[in-house]
Amino acid sequence: MATKKITERDWERLIRAARDVRKRAHAPYSKYRVGAALLTQDGKIITGCNVENASYGLTICAERGAICSAVAQGHRKFVALALVSSSGAGPCGACRQVLVEFAPEMPVRIVLPAGKKHRQSTVEELLPSRFDSSALT
Ligand code: THU
Repeated sequence: MATKKITERDWERLIRAARDVRKRAHAPYSKYRVGAALLTQDGKIITGCNVENASYGLTICAERGAICSAVAQGHRKFVALALVSSSGAGPCGACRQVLVEFAPEMPVRIVLPAGKKHRQSTVEELLPSRFDSSALT
């Protein structure tokens, strides 16, 4: 299947979804809310927000929440990811590893809460020299 071409309209929808889901973040400890929205190959938007825990190490990041939700709903082909946080930081290392499992070429657009584009790169640019299934054959 040809990779879906992502339009600016797709990005607008994705960014709106990421900004909306960010409001649902459970971040009472860090107060750092993150919203993630994935666009699937068949045009669906799947979202995730960070979910912290009193046992801090159990925190789940927005990006991994979105991926887990998408896979559970039967989606494994992703064409774009929008991320919203107050600092415009990129995904953490663990999330980069989880994202690369499914979508190394996927563009990740990082956006500030007011909706302004901060930066954009692909997952493989964010995680050079990755570990993936090719190591296991
Ligand atoms: N966080 C994410 O949701 N995604 C990342 O890629 C980086 C960090 C969350 C985890 C925690 O709830 C808060 O941001 C501060 O680390």
